Amino acid sequence: MTDPTEEDVTMTFKEDPETVARTLRHALVGDDLPDSFTLLGREWSLHRGVWPSTLSAATEVLASMVPYPEGGSFLEVGCGTGVIAVTAALSGCTSVTALDINEKAIANTVANAERHGVSDRVRALHSDMYTALAPTDRFDTIFWNVPWTYVEDGYALSTDLHTAVFDPGYRGQARYLAGAHEHLADGGRLLLGTADLGDRERLDAVAEQTGLRVELLRSVRRIEEVRVMEYYMLELHPK
Ligand SMILES: C[S@@+](CC[C@H](N)C(=O)[O-])C[C@H]1O[C@@H](n2cnc3c(N)ncnc32)[C@H](O)[C@@H]1O
Repeated sequence: MTDPTEEDVTMTFKEDPETVARTLRHALVGDDLPDSFTLLGREWSLHRGVWPSTLSAATEVLASMVPYPEGGSFLEVGCGTGVIAVTAALSGCTSVTALDINEKAIANTVANAERHGVSDRVRALHSDMYTALAPTDRFDTIFWNVPWTYVEDGYALSTDLHTAVFDPGYRGQARYLAGAHEHLADGGRLLLGTADLGDRERLDAVAEQTGLRVELLRSVRRIEEVRVMEYYMLELHPK
């Protein structure tokens, strides 16, 4: 029988990092991964090494929930495939900036902006958080669909995809919150998309340290399973 104290120690994470890392390895090297996917009624290019936006329902749900500033400017941190940045442009934002620490995500976002005819209003920059922005860059809305999986500080982000899922010590989210005020326009809105697999208490603590208060704007419940299923119809014969 498992010692319950031992179980408590090993279950400090809401998601088992090893299980998540296995999914990432599949998304990186699996030869069954397509080079495009359908989401929100549109077809999107998927570059290898970029977080596939359909691995969870997060992108679809959050892209549908973001209050895009119509006629205004939108900054997406961590754009990945660019679904949310491009959706912002298609939803009436006149200028969209998309940032990602993963260089492959920048090419992917550029490809999707071209694919959907919004290259004139979407610029994508390779950036660790806000570093590629000019100090004068200001936005009406700033948004990040965060890597919500908490792992201890020092956890190795060994592939490009790890940065999409794991946030060691929630330092990324801390930097996101702390640096936002330098790029928010007057009256601008700072938004963060996460899920119940994220550690809300830690996020609240990080916000508190930055002098911010977290308000829940909206929640959506989806039934999903993050794994590939194979179904079999078997026929049985006499031996
Ligand atoms: C959960 S994924 C979301 C991707 C995309 N927005 C989507 O919805 O499909 C988080 C993204 O944040 C990016 N990211 C992680 N740390 C970052 C950092 N320090 N600066 C910029 N982007 C970062 C990851 O590379 C990843 O693309």
